[in-house]
Amino acid sequence: MDGNGRWAKKRFLPRFFGHKAGVDALIRIIDACADRGIRYLTVFAFSSENWKRPADEVSGLMGLVLVAQAKYMQKMVGNGVRVVIAGDREAVSDRLRKAWNDVEEATKSNHRLTLTVAFNYGGRWDMVQACRRAVADGLKPEQIDEEALSRYMAMGHAPDPDLFIRTGGEVRISNFLLWQAAYSELLFTDCLWPDFGEAELDAALAAYAGRERRFGALNMGAAAHPA
Ligand code: IPE
Ligand code: MG
Repeated sequence: MDGNGRWAKKRFLPRFFGHKAGVDALIRIIDACADRGIRYLTVFAFSSENWKRPADEVSGLMGLVLVAQAKYMQKMVGNGVRVVIAGDREAVSDRLRKAWNDVEEATKSNHRLTLTVAFNYGGRWDMVQACRRAVADGLKPEQIDEEALSRYMAMGHAPDPDLFIRTGGEVRISNFLLWQAAYSELLFTDCLWPDFGEAELDAALAAYAGRERRFGALNMGAAAHPA
């Protein structure tokens, strides 16, 4: 979800207003995805590297998460959205950790759409923490395979993404879903995240529908595709 700061700057507003508009865009996209039958939506909200931003922006973002959780939790419960937070919870405040536990608990039996919010997340962090937990569980080297590691990853509850979208014009992955995006279709758009709405989502889905996915095989018709 990149481009909040530039969206605000274009309007001569402080960056915080861009982040606020970014939350509104996310709420709209959650509904739009659920309406289109998309079962899993995963968003990069705060990276392990975002701590390097000025302290007031970091605390503004933390505050915004708390406000959004209070404002939208009941809506998620009612809309059948299950919320999962993926990321390192050690470094965040007790209040934020509690808010996350509350929203996960309140939505855990929802099945319409699983929203994973990657917060204090990094793809490399995820691989390291997965290895550590596997070792701590006593897994032997021969028991560590792709399937086992996937289970220990912060995204273990979700299938690998079919479509990976980055807004805001940069053409890089920036440490998001490094393991899980191995065969994802990548889509980069100049659209700034607060401007990403239903029309942009539909355009992305149409582009995805036009891609040919081979997963390393040759195209031999539908039979060549894994389930
Ligand atoms: C992305 O928007 C939001 C977060 C990382 C939290 P940015 O804040 O990176 O916006 P730009 O890239 O400065 O426009
Ligand atoms: Mg950015």
